[in-house]
Amino acid sequence: MSELSGQNILLGVSGGIAAYKTPMLVRGLMAAGANVQVVMTANASRFVTPTTLQAVSGRPVRSDLWDAEAEAAMGHIELARWADQILIAPATANVIADLARGSAPDLLSTLCLATAAPISIAPAMNQHMFQHPAVGENLRRLADLGYCLIGPEYGDQACGDHGPGRMTEPEDLIRAMADTQLEPQRAGSVGLAGLLTGQHLMITTGPTREAIDPVRYISNHSSGLQGLALAEAALDAGASVTLVAGPGVPACHPDIKRLDVTTAQDMYAAVHQHLEHVSLFIGVAAVADYRPQDVPAQKMKRGDQAGQNLTLSLVENPDIIASVAQCGRVPVVVGFAAETEMTLENASLKLTRKKLDAVIVNDVSDSTIGFNSDHNAVTLVHHNGQLPFEKQSKQAISRHLITALTTLFKDKLNLEQP
Ligand code: C5P
Repeated sequence: MSELSGQNILLGVSGGIAAYKTPMLVRGLMAAGANVQVVMTANASRFVTPTTLQAVSGRPVRSDLWDAEAEAAMGHIELARWADQILIAPATANVIADLARGSAPDLLSTLCLATAAPISIAPAMNQHMFQHPAVGENLRRLADLGYCLIGPEYGDQACGDHGPGRMTEPEDLIRAMADTQLEPQRAGSVGLAGLLTGQHLMITTGPTREAIDPVRYISNHSSGLQGLALAEAALDAGASVTLVAGPGVPACHPDIKRLDVTTAQDMYAAVHQHLEHVSLFIGVAAVADYRPQDVPAQKMKRGDQAGQNLTLSLVENPDIIASVAQCGRVPVVVGFAAETEMTLENASLKLTRKKLDAVIVNDVSDSTIGFNSDHNAVTLVHHNGQLPFEKQSKQAISRHLITALTTLFKDKLNLEQP
């Protein structure tokens, strides 16, 4: 039996050209056993008629908050309670903006505020509209509020453009709706299909460990989760991915080529040995800047230094990312910076000092994000500006970062239009 069997799905249709696909979407949802109630915005009926959607759903379409007859049959609050899930497809920039600011000018937006049901959004718009920072900010806000974002996809658009903004196809939307039941925390899942086809990414992640003696080491709090999430997002975008992982980084997708290392020197060697064909290098690892100079073969004992302070002499480790940028073999090199103060200033300094293409910076003085947390909030600093990404899961932020890097470095990566 389908996950959607017996579910009440409220389908919100807003006024984008992709609305022409909604009769097939309704048919598919009903074939999966769902009951479908369509709610249209005023503009949607310019693209698809209420009569068509009524015919395929078997229910009168709702569109007006002030329709006394329809409200008498099932008021908007009852409708909001009736829904087990809400899907808005297509979701235009206009509807996305209303929902992001909690505004309720019509029936659909009012229902979204009044419901306790999970809400999924399938954005669909021209690629330039989708890439407008205001739309990006609104989508990040929705992801933060717990809306589940499905797509958009990359490809041919009705207006003749190529790029991100195509509505996810009805069968994929139906599959995603069934998944939402299983995994309600999937908020912010931006469609990445094909964005990095043919590209090879190398990502370093996790801490390094620098031996003090055979049983002790110097390390840091990095969990490796951010690099892991980026590797998985890059894989979803069609790239082949090499992950160079420090100790303690959890298991990753089997299609990711993983190289496990312990020390900064191991990481340096693994990176340079596998750099061939890498077009985008992202250094997420929290590499120890220094390592103990002399490592005794036997465990150091308190007795050896009884009554005295112990001084460890440290030598500098190689700067892996700077060496990658300097070797000139990789078209795009992106670093991470975990800062506790002067966050953006320090990121800009790192950008120039290490000769990087971009630095993704997070403020690790906020203990609710970054190290050992499932969430992060970052700013992508590049040579022509900055892009902030509000607090969200490391998975969601990775998908936004992959999309942003693909757009920023389209030419350097020689990305072909799909
Ligand atoms: O200078 P800082 O360590 O803050 O720079 C952070 C960036 O440099 C990260 O991308 C990190 O992975 C990289 N890095 C490196 N090798 C080092 C130190 C940092 O690749 N030895």
